[in-house]
Amino acid sequence: MTSFVEQLDIHSTFADSTKNYRVSGQTILKDICTQREVPKRMFLSKMTILILSRCLVMGKGSGYGKVILFGEHFVVHGVPGIVSATDATTDAEVKKIDKGIIIKDERKGSRGYAEEKKLQQIESIERMLKTMGMPQSTAMSIWLGGNLPGFSGLGASAASSVAIARAIAEECGLKFSDQRINEIAYEAEKAYAGNPSGIDNTAATFGGLLWFKKNVTGGPDTFEKINIRAPVEIIIGSTGIVANTKAMVEGVAERKKQNSQKYDRLFKQAENLALAGRKALKNFNFKKVGELMNENHHLLQEIGVSCKELDHLVDVAREQGAWGAKLTGGGGGGCMTALTPEKELQEKVAAAIEKEGFQVLRTKIGVQKL
Ligand code: MEV
Repeated sequence: MTSFVEQLDIHSTFADSTKNYRVSGQTILKDICTQREVPKRMFLSKMTILILSRCLVMGKGSGYGKVILFGEHFVVHGVPGIVSATDATTDAEVKKIDKGIIIKDERKGSRGYAEEKKLQQIESIERMLKTMGMPQSTAMSIWLGGNLPGFSGLGASAASSVAIARAIAEECGLKFSDQRINEIAYEAEKAYAGNPSGIDNTAATFGGLLWFKKNVTGGPDTFEKINIRAPVEIIIGSTGIVANTKAMVEGVAERKKQNSQKYDRLFKQAENLALAGRKALKNFNFKKVGELMNENHHLLQEIGVSCKELDHLVDVAREQGAWGAKLTGGGGGGCMTALTPEKELQEKVAAAIEKEGFQVLRTKIGVQKL
């Protein structure tokens, strides 16, 4: 009879393609072997173990959530924006199957989020396969989970696109750089946002606190990490309203066309805010960051993307002492964020919003890539 150690070695030799293969193979062996009551002669044969572990092999990937501190909507038109990845991620597992695409979405979030986004999700996967150069008939089962809630405004769609792209690549043995994953996720994002800036997928891919500027002439976008001394507490409050980012982006573009003078002025102010925001972040001057966030919320109200629920949560946060508060993401529902340095203030603001019956995510900005 082959000893356990020999089996493990032989199994590892077979497992030459992916590290998951090896890991799941070892886990099975360990699980079996730690059940002491199983007599040694009853251990699965080498071949059975190999077949079993093949069934468990799958591609895995993750993408970060994001919170936009400055410049949502303006960023679509080439104005710079500032985004921070959240430490929460969406995780995906992909396994090739014989036929069709099966999606098991176990993300927790606003009621109706997954159903509302279903068609866009399917389109995004089709776009992804096309960009990866894979046949549309590629059959696979996709599992989605992780600790990033499926709230509108938190970059859940971009996080899932990055996670799925990474998982497909791993499952199919494709070696893609982060930059390539970012490009694939950008194409997938078009299903959700129509004409996305690329800020969400960039944060979802690379993590960290980022300065981002879309290249509106079609070349590569500009983005760079903003380093801050230490991560700072924020809260994200969800209105619970599932928003349609594509409709919100189109609405701004339409109103911009109709009122070009007013919008030119607002867009200039948004650019100045982003520049001042970057300076304040680099100087670790969070009083200033908060004031600028308040101004940014006002600009977002002016371009018609806030709503009464978002304004209400912003007011509650400010009343509780948040240093600044604004809607974040596409607006029209979705989420707001408030700057709440230190745990105590974060808890106070979060509790007040929860008391009003809304869900809250407590997180930090400036957390570096995991
Ligand atoms: C959505 O999170 C941010 C928007 O600016 C759209 C985009 O930049 O793609 C509204």
